[in-house]
Amino acid sequence: MCRLAIIGGTGLTRLAPLKITRREVVHTPYGEPSGPLTHGLLNGVEVVFLPRHGYAHRIPPHMVNYRANIWALHYLGVERIIAVAAVGGISKGMFPGRIAFPDQIIDYTWGRAHTFFEKDLTEVRHVDFSQPYCEDMRRVLINAAGRAGIDAMNHGVYGATQGPRLETAAEIDRLERDGCDMVGMTGMPEAVLARELELNYVTCAISANWAAGRGDAEITMDEIQHNLAQGMKTVAQLLEEVVILLNG
Ligand code: HPA
Repeated sequence: MCRLAIIGGTGLTRLAPLKITRREVVHTPYGEPSGPLTHGLLNGVEVVFLPRHGYAHRIPPHMVNYRANIWALHYLGVERIIAVAAVGGISKGMFPGRIAFPDQIIDYTWGRAHTFFEKDLTEVRHVDFSQPYCEDMRRVLINAAGRAGIDAMNHGVYGATQGPRLETAAEIDRLERDGCDMVGMTGMPEAVLARELELNYVTCAISANWAAGRGDAEITMDEIQHNLAQGMKTVAQLLEEVVILLNG
C-alpha cells in the first residue's frame, strides 16, 4: 500500500531520484487521470507519482482532470499528497527559484469540475475549508527544508487563476491587494477535491518568475523553464528528506 503521493507540476514530469517499480492505469468514474500512476521508491520508501500535466506535459491547467487524478490516488490507498506547483512570485519573498509552503488559498478559477459532491447525494455536503492545507504536512515540509538547508517561505497565500494565459499587471495588483503572495493555475480545485476525500494535501510551490508587472521584462517560457529546472533539483532534495521524516 502506498500512502504518499507526489503530484508533479510544470518542470516535474519525472522525479529523478524515484526508482520506478511499475506503472498502473486507473480508470475512474470521472474519466481518465493525467496518465498512468507511477509507483516507485524514494529513499527506499514507497510513493506514487503523477505528473499533473501528463508525462508529455500536454494538458493545460484548465483541462487537467483534477477529479480523476485525486480519485485515482484515493483509490490506490494514498493518504498524503504533496502537490508540487510552479507559481509566479508576487510578494518580495517569492523571488524566482524560491520555494514556499502556502497556508492559504484564494480561488479565482471558474468553470472547472470542482467537487465530488454533486450527484447521487443522500444529503448536501459542505466541507470545512478554513485551513485548505494539511498543517501536519506543512510542518513536515518546513522541517524537511530546515534539515536539508533549503531556504523556503513557510507560509503564504496562493492565488489560483484560470490560465492558460498569464495575468495582466492590474490583475496581479488586485491579487496583491487581496493578500496573495504567489499566483498559480493549478492549486484549485485540486486542494478542495483532496479535502473532500479526506486526503492530507499540501503544496510545495516554486517561484518560476516574477508575476506580471513585478519583473523588468516580459515573462517568457524560457525563463520559467530555466528557473524551474534549478528549483526542481531542490524539490527532489526536499522530497527525499520528507520521506525520511514521515517514516522515521
Ligand atoms: N502566473 C500564473 N501561474 C504561473 C505563473 C504566473 O506568473 N508562473 C508559473 N505559473
